[in-house]
Amino acid sequence: MTDTTDSLFALSERYYLPVYRPRRIVLDHGRGSRIWDRDGREYVDFGAGIAVNALGHAHPALVAALTEQAGKLWHTSNVFVSEPTLKLAQALVTASGFAERVFFCNSGAEANEAAIKLARKWATAKGRDPDRRVILSFRGSFHGRTLAAVTATAQPKYHEGFEPLPPGFRYSDFNDLAAAEAAMADGDVCAVLIEPVQGEGGVTPATPEFLAGLRALCDRHDALLVLDEIQCGMGRTGALFAWQGYGVTPDVVTLAKALGSGFPIGAMLVGDRAADAMQFGAHGTTFGGNPLAAAVATVALQELSSPALLANVDRQSRALRDGLAAIDAEFGLFSEIRGRGLMLGAQLREAHAGRASDILDRCIEQGLLLLQAGPDVLRFVPALNIGDADIAEGLARLRTALVQALGPAA
Ligand SMILES: Cc1ncc(COP(=O)(O)O)c(C=O)c1O
Repeated sequence: MTDTTDSLFALSERYYLPVYRPRRIVLDHGRGSRIWDRDGREYVDFGAGIAVNALGHAHPALVAALTEQAGKLWHTSNVFVSEPTLKLAQALVTASGFAERVFFCNSGAEANEAAIKLARKWATAKGRDPDRRVILSFRGSFHGRTLAAVTATAQPKYHEGFEPLPPGFRYSDFNDLAAAEAAMADGDVCAVLIEPVQGEGGVTPATPEFLAGLRALCDRHDALLVLDEIQCGMGRTGALFAWQGYGVTPDVVTLAKALGSGFPIGAMLVGDRAADAMQFGAHGTTFGGNPLAAAVATVALQELSSPALLANVDRQSRALRDGLAAIDAEFGLFSEIRGRGLMLGAQLREAHAGRASDILDRCIEQGLLLLQAGPDVLRFVPALNIGDADIAEGLARLRTALVQALGPAA
């Protein structure tokens, strides 16, 4: 029997653990910011695999790096070193301007898990008792799904049913410096973990004062500033790393998503304050720093660091914001359009609360892949090399989808 979209969906419903609710299309191949399903329908991609495919689909330089490495060596484990991985570590340290050392892993959650463990080891080496090794994170955050990362994720819906959660985590309000100051007053916080731009929680940038204030609090209380740049890093905000746009230097940075631009890899970059915290045997992974992933990420890093690419982020960010503002003028749909670079969120007005998922379904019908960040925010995270024509076409399809979802504008 020939497979159809429906028969493939029946397989997913039969065999997958039902933790996802995928939209009813089966994607087949892509090129740049266009992607096709197995029935031949074409889509403009404003989601980029949740901010992962930062260079679009089938980028020739990435395909070449992957295929070349695939013919040489796939995997060594960390019992041995391999050249692509070493070269990537060196390139990341150089590009970061602050890091001394790198730990590679396979995903964002693993990178944050490593950062949480590193912070605890760092505090332990300072003679701090277990109850003085608290990790402070922020409401609305998202740090991943391993037990420690999900505990750092200060959103109760991700915790429910997984208790008992590991102890030693504390939450404070995002962009509220006075609250963070109070949360750190006891001197028992060993690390502050924050997304410079919250992603899953609604695409909300930290204010410059907040991030700078956290840096000062970390210095005052001898804590590490750990920036989760898994979604907002690697050029997405218009600087290679989001902190560069804030002028704040971190102690630890976690990366994943766009680092491999579609090939799974995560990394933790560590500055000199904590570069010696983890010694032989303290942490590890079988697959982390896999040569295939490293070969792709090295080329991705070169591409994502290019001034032309970063200038394109600014240019397309403006185009997307202007287009969304025009849509808002027509439909009165958004109460706020926020974000940085090509990480934008459009907050639905009260009257349209809860309709993001419905709008995304209409977008698919019109040939546009879009994301939400919660029920009330449309999230735009296209490839960073997206061109003028794809932005314009995606916006046109969004407009048509909105006419379908809301009826013609008055
Ligand atoms: C800011 C942030 N941190 C961590 C993660 C977790 O990454 P992963 O799904 O690769 O484990 C995500 C994923 O969306 C993220 O956006």
